[in-house]
Formats: sequence, C-alpha cells, structure tokens
Amino acid sequence: MTTSINPESNRAELNDQVALVTGASRGLGRHFARVLAGVGCRVIITSRAADSLVETSQLIRDVGGRCESVELDVRDFDSIQAASDAAVSAFGKIDILVNNAGCNVRKPAVDVTWEDWNLVIDTNLRGSFFVAQAIAKKAMIPAAYGRIVNIGSVTSVFGYEGLTPYGASRGGTKQMTMSLADDWGQHGITVNCLAPGWFKTAQNAVMYEDADWVEYLSERIPVGRPGHVDDLSSALLFMVGPGSRYYTGQTMLVDGGITVGRTRALPKK
Ligand SMILES: NC(=O)c1ccc[n+]([C@@H]2O[C@H](COP(=O)([O-])OP(=O)(O)OC[C@H]3O[C@@H](n4cnc5c(N)ncnc54)[C@H](OP(=O)(O)O)[C@@H]3O)[C@@H](O)[C@H]2O)c1
Repeated sequence: MTTSINPESNRAELNDQVALVTGASRGLGRHFARVLAGVGCRVIITSRAADSLVETSQLIRDVGGRCESVELDVRDFDSIQAASDAAVSAFGKIDILVNNAGCNVRKPAVDVTWEDWNLVIDTNLRGSFFVAQAIAKKAMIPAAYGRIVNIGSVTSVFGYEGLTPYGASRGGTKQMTMSLADDWGQHGITVNCLAPGWFKTAQNAVMYEDADWVEYLSERIPVGRPGHVDDLSSALLFMVGPGSRYYTGQTMLVDGGITVGRTRALPKK
C-alpha cells in the first residue's frame, strides 16, 4: 500500500479516523485541524479557552467536517489528564495526535529570565511529552495503533540568536520524537517530527511587518519566500496516514531549503 498526497486517496485512507490537534485556536494548529477534517477525520481541537476555538470549529463545519472542542492547558498535568479523557470519549478512540501547542520568547540570551525559560520549555517540551503519554496510554496502546506528529522547527536542528529557550525546546522535540518512536513502535505507534521553517502566524506576525526583514529572509530561502500553511499539508498527511507505517522517529524539515546552505549572507555581486 502506498500513501498518496492526492486528496481523494488521503480521504479513503483517513476517513473516519479520529485526530486530536493541540493549539488549534489559530495559526498552524488551525490549519492542521482543517486539513485533517478535509480528508474525513473527526477532529478534536484544543486550546486553553473554549471560546478561542469557535472560529476553527466553524471553519471545519463549513467544509462538512466533524469536530469537538476541548479545553487543554499543556502546562497543567491535571488539565492534560482531564482533556485526554474528554478527547477519548468524544469519538471513542484517537488514531492521530498532532502535538502543535507551543509558544516562544524572543530575547538575547543574556536577558532570558528563569520564568521565560520555564514557560517555553514547559509548554513546548514537557507539555508535548505528557500529552503524548496520556493519549498513548488511554487510546493508542490499547488500540495497538497510532500516529503522533510532534511539531518541531528549523531550530530543532539549527541555532538562531534570540531563540535559545525555543531552540532548546525544539531540539528536545526532535530527541523526544526518536525516543518515543523507539519506545512505542512495539505498540503500532509511529512518532515523527514535522519541522516547519518560517511561516507567518500570530506568534511571529510582528516580524513580517518589516518588509526589509522579509526580503532578507526570502533571499536566504532557496525557494525564495517564507512558507504558507498549505506548504505543510502534504507532509502532515504523509505522517498521519496508514501508509507511513515504516516511517518513524524522523524529523522532516519543511522549510523551503533554508537549512541546506544559504543561511549566511552571500557576497553581493
Ligand atoms: N509559525 C512558524 O513559523 C512556526 C515554525 C516552526 C514551528 N512552529 C511551531 O508550530 C506551533 C504553532 O505555531 P503558530 O505559529 O501557529 O503559533 P500561534 O499562532 O502562537 O498558536 C499557538 C497555539 O498554541 C496554543 N497554546 C499556547 N500555549 C498553550 C498552552 N499552555 N496550553 C495549550 N495550548 C497552548 C495556543 O492556544 P491558546 O492561546 O488559544 O490557548 C495556540 O492555539 C508552535 O508549537 C510553534 O512553536 C511555528
């Protein structure tokens, strides 16, 4: 069996699967939820406040999708337990987890506070781990099937000034992905890391207001532009489909090539 990026083929493979997407109130998480609903998955969308999920929920229903909203704060262990219980009972199973909730603090390393560090590491790394653990224990291991996609970043493999806690968290996401893949492969669960490059969302919109910076960035991306959320859809569908059964523990960069060599300023001709 092969996995195709053809939407109709994906629909056949993923129809009636149940997906949980964390951090689905906006940005990449909202997009991932819409893509999965669009190929027939029933989707559980989460964020810290149910109100913030109304728009995502409506967008999914507008395309005929089915979804349930669940409140989840990934920095709170009790919230993870309650939300995972609610998520499993919503549709009776969870086949797919997209561990997307995340945050960032951009500062020179000398200005990073203890609180900044804890916020970023607790949300991006500890939160993702305990969400994965809860869903694996309550749904995927009993079902002997699961597809977990941890959202990483180019900082999973690359250093950037001003992003030390974030880079540490995303390097950890890559390492956690490998360890969980090794641990849970025996249960029919694959665990992979989808690592986007530079995509304009609420988290970083202020940077994209600076046209000079966007030009600077675009010159360093081999395909010549920042990413659009649609650029992530095929990679996501590959990782969550049944056909990716022999693909696990991997980090897939979807970054327009920024990590392959032109990250330093080229001399002007
Ligand atoms: N944008 C990029 O270029 C880019 C590149 C690489 C990786 N990423 C990663 O992709 C993910 C999504 O990024 P984005 O740009 O879409 O970010 P965003 O627009 O800021 O959205 C972040 C999402 O995470 C949720 N969230 C934050 N803290 C949470 C917590 N403690 N508990 C539960 N949910 C929480 C937010 O929900 P509420 O605030 O509504 O609770 C929101 O839905 C992040 O993990 C980010 O690190 C982004």
